[in-house]
This record gives sequence, C-alpha cells and structure tokens, in this order.
Amino acid sequence: TLNVLWAALLGYGFGSIPFGLILAKLAGKGDIRQQGSGNIGATNVLRTGSKGLAAATLLLDLAKGFVPVWLAGMWFWQDMGWAALFAVIGHAFPVWLGFKGGKGVATNAGVSFALAWPIGVAYAIVWIGVLAISRISSLAGMSAVVAAAVMAFVLGIPTFAKVLTLIAVLVIWLHRENIKRLVAGTEPKVGSSK
Ligand code: G3P
Repeated sequence: TLNVLWAALLGYGFGSIPFGLILAKLAGKGDIRQQGSGNIGATNVLRTGSKGLAAATLLLDLAKGFVPVWLAGMWFWQDMGWAALFAVIGHAFPVWLGFKGGKGVATNAGVSFALAWPIGVAYAIVWIGVLAISRISSLAGMSAVVAAAVMAFVLGIPTFAKVLTLIAVLVIWLHRENIKRLVAGTEPKVGSSK
C-alpha cells in the first residue's frame, strides 16, 4: 500500500541523517570518516576525545530511529516495521554520503524502544551489560540487536520479530570488519587510546 512507502520514506529520511559526521565537523574535529575506524557512529566520535560529542551523537542517532517508528505508529501503525527497517537502512546507506554510512546500533536502539518498550529495555540491558563487561562497543552492539529480535519473539509479535531479525542480520554484516578484529583479538576497547 501507499502507507508502506510513506513509512519507509519516513524511516529512511530520519535514518540517513549522519549526525556523527555533522557534529564532528561542526565541532572542528574534521571528517570523522578519516579517523579511527572510519565509522560515523558515537563509538568513533568518542575516539576524537570528546565525550560530550559522542553522547550527543548517540542520543541523536537514537532519536532518529525512535521518531520515524513512533510517527509511523501514530499514522499507520501496521507499517511500523517498514519505518524501523528503513531507519536502519538509511543510517547504513545514506544517499547523502554515497550510500556509505554507519553500523546501526544506536539507531536500532531507538527503533526498538519505539516498536515496543520491553524490546527497547532488553536492548538497553544487553547493550550496557555487555559493554560494561567487555568494554568492546561492537560486541555489545551486536549482542543488543540479537537481544531485541529474541525479545520480539518472546513477546509474540511476529511482524516485529521478523523485522528485527532482518535488522540484526544487516547490523552484524555491517560489523564484518569488527568481527575480523574480534577474532584476531585486535578490536579496540572503549576508553583505550588505540
Ligand atoms: O556502533 C558502532 C560500533 O558497534 C562499532 O563502532 O567505530 O568501533 O567500528 P567502531
């Protein structure tokens, strides 16, 4: 239906705003894509040395996942899943950056909270928990996206479970370089200088 198209456009429109890139540039940190892992997410913004900038990136990337799914829920709730999927796709493949974007962890956190709050809570607990234990952002993020999909299954919401499983596959694929580093034991920890 037409609503599916609107929900997808809404998700993509919000999701594709590269807040990390914009904030780092505005703060005079240069092009974040030329630094650290080259990613436009909060983890890499933190590597510029600014905690405030990283926190702002995290919050705005979360919000750009939450808002379109929440709006889709008010206007055409049957199509929230499309807004969710396309918010993460927008973040990962922004047309404005030649389709080279981020890895979707913060955006999918916002998406999860907007789909159903218990999914968001599961996401947050696993994300923060694994980060606290391992200090590895990518590992925490990948664990959280899987937790969200599992939670949707547990809650018995098959449409959300399907979408979150698709998103989890995408997010894990986007982390393929991180996975190689994890296996090699060279993935940097949050807060370490390298
Ligand atoms: O959210 C992105 C995070 O999981 C990994 O970021 O910069 O360490 O590749 P980065």
